[in-house]
Amino acid sequence: MKVLVTGGAGYIGSHTVLILLEAGHEVVVLDNLCNASREALRRVERLVGRELVFVEGDIRDRALLDQLLVEWPISAVIHFAGLKAVGESVQQPLAYYANNVAGTITLCQAMQAAGVQRLVFSSSATVYGADAPVPYQETMPRGQATSPYGASKAMVEQVLEDLCRSNDLWSVAALRYFNPIGAHPSGEIGEDPQGIPNNLMPFIAQVASGRRNTLSIFGNDYSTADGTCERDYLHVMDLAEGHVAALAHITTPGIACYNLGTGNAFSVLQMVERFSVVNGVEVPYAFAPRRAGDLPAFWADPGKAGAELGWVARRSLDDMMRDTWRWQQRNPYGYRQGYATQTP
Ligand code: NAD
Ligand code: WQD
Repeated sequence: MKVLVTGGAGYIGSHTVLILLEAGHEVVVLDNLCNASREALRRVERLVGRELVFVEGDIRDRALLDQLLVEWPISAVIHFAGLKAVGESVQQPLAYYANNVAGTITLCQAMQAAGVQRLVFSSSATVYGADAPVPYQETMPRGQATSPYGASKAMVEQVLEDLCRSNDLWSVAALRYFNPIGAHPSGEIGEDPQGIPNNLMPFIAQVASGRRNTLSIFGNDYSTADGTCERDYLHVMDLAEGHVAALAHITTPGIACYNLGTGNAFSVLQMVERFSVVNGVEVPYAFAPRRAGDLPAFWADPGKAGAELGWVARRSLDDMMRDTWRWQQRNPYGYRQGYATQTP
């Protein structure tokens, strides 16, 4: 199948492109490189021994999309492109709604005009909102968003629901990711945050490598076993495989949502300790005040993805720790060479 992957140069996208190529699909990547490096895709091509088509451009560029969908006989789209920093979305809501919501609408308009109506969308566990009981199940309603980022994901799910209701040629899978971490086991591709990482695992890895001094653990007075927040971390390679499973499934009209998580939750302290034990490195940390908007604990019920997509997360927490560390050691400054400043 020829698949258009928007945002395919990014963290989850690059791993998914690799799995798609390995599964024999042909891939066209559209990415504006606002949060990614072209090098990631060069490495994917080397690892798989196959080539892909890369188009540098923006999902909000309708003329480009029209041209691309005419030029390539695309059968389905996997749509990763978007902005993802929760805190930044509070500061710049318009940028997030323009990119994530308006961008997706432009993409769907172009797809509809071209008669390409099979879509896998990157949604997020954040759509369950602040008050949902755990574990999260797809039968629960979307909740009150805790940030413009979260609202943008919920809005897009609503747009896609309405679109599928209006026209039964559309077939959509909205994948609600929990906390993806880890890297390809080669250590050649991985997560490459720009500046100070927002997310836990890249921060742990950068502290372990000496690029940063200390991990701040945001809050140790939550109502959890050890007082730190608990999350459902899943290996990015498992997540990537979930997209290929979803692609095979979008053959019937309508939209279906799937939780992609392991069903297990680990605390921040457990993550730090496990990283240290598995990799034999120290991760100095200090407790800090809670981060605004963080929920104490949430995890997936991944049963629906198991039953309908035949997908389960197979890789262990130790795999996630080892693969994160291999990527970090081989690429201390990500895809950029020679960049060397240390910040706390
Ligand atoms: P990422 O930033 O690494 O990847 C997003 C990619 O989209 C980047 O390569 C970026 O350059 C590109 N992009 C952004 N706006 C674009 C535009 N207008 N046109 C073309 N390309 C554009 O992020 P990721 O972690 O790989 O996340 C991929 C998707 O999954 C995002 O939609 C994100 O919201 C969603 N998601 C991520 C997580 C997570 O924890 N990483 C969790 C849930 C959902
Ligand atoms: C995990 C835990 C932090 C950094 C975010 C988005 C979510 C989804 C995934 C896109 C929390 C703690 C973190 C640090 C810390 N993204 N932490 N020190 O917040 O669960 O989810 O990414 O859809 O929408 O909100 O992930 O990795 O930022 O944090 O103590 O330096 O680690 O407080 O408890 P989060 P995270």
